[in-house]
Amino acid sequence: MFRDLIDDLDDYSVEPDMLLDVPFVPTDEAVIEAMLNLVEVGPADLLYDLGSGDGRILVAAARDRDTRGIGVEIDPLRIADAFDYAAHTRVEYLVDFVEDSIFTADISDATVVTLYLLDSINVQLRPRLLRELRPGTRIISHAFDMGDWKADERLEFSGTKIYKWIVPAQVAGVWEWNGYDDTPYRVELQQKYQEITGRAWVADTPAELKSAALCGASLELTIQEGGATLPITFTLNFENNDLQSIVEDA
Ligand SMILES: C[S@@+](CC[C@H](N)C(=O)[O-])C[C@H]1O[C@@H](n2cnc3c(N)ncnc32)[C@H](O)[C@@H]1O
Repeated sequence: MFRDLIDDLDDYSVEPDMLLDVPFVPTDEAVIEAMLNLVEVGPADLLYDLGSGDGRILVAAARDRDTRGIGVEIDPLRIADAFDYAAHTRVEYLVDFVEDSIFTADISDATVVTLYLLDSINVQLRPRLLRELRPGTRIISHAFDMGDWKADERLEFSGTKIYKWIVPAQVAGVWEWNGYDDTPYRVELQQKYQEITGRAWVADTPAELKSAALCGASLELTIQEGGATLPITFTLNFENNDLQSIVEDA
């Protein structure tokens, strides 16, 4: 029955004065399943689909995973069809569709964002994804990459690529703290998306920053002090891009 609905959709034409950044091309149901699996979408998530078309990504997540979803779509005809499909699938209480642009809609409460747009549109969206989404929010893109923000994971499924990013906290700068034994530590960090480089000091003596791994709001730093036999690892937890707590590995 939904197949008929989709065939009917092809008869609709976009209003002549409407500027679509991307035409409507629906994601295949099997690819949707692979996308939702890659970011482990579940009932605790709030999923935004930017350019939600006929609503199929959100309907699948609501139907199969009890996930709440909000679709942002500029074409009112697609919005109407998405509401119809959600009602037909009996998930209308879990999903909503807003007529808005992907460049202006408020997306700040998303925990997962799905995209099926274009490389160039992903790059244009990138600053607001990094600025407006909370650290730890997962982003998943069907087919299209996002410039020099390297994906945290990518996979090939049925001949199409799927990309996953985790929004990183802003951690660049100078951070100082004391270890369990009161030893003072200091790091100066530079950041390019989730890639962190920098320098470390232990008790004002230069030390080696052996690794720095940022995942969302959690930054794991491994520091090797000159005279010490073993490096020491700290996990720095950020909230609203401020350092909230530090855990030293026992
Ligand atoms: C390739 S389709 C993807 C549909 C759906 N996300 C899917 O994967 O099945 C892109 C959608 O983005 C919508 N779109 C294009 N430009 C937009 C804009 N500036 N703001 C919101 N939606 C837009 C189109 O109308 C279309 O429905």
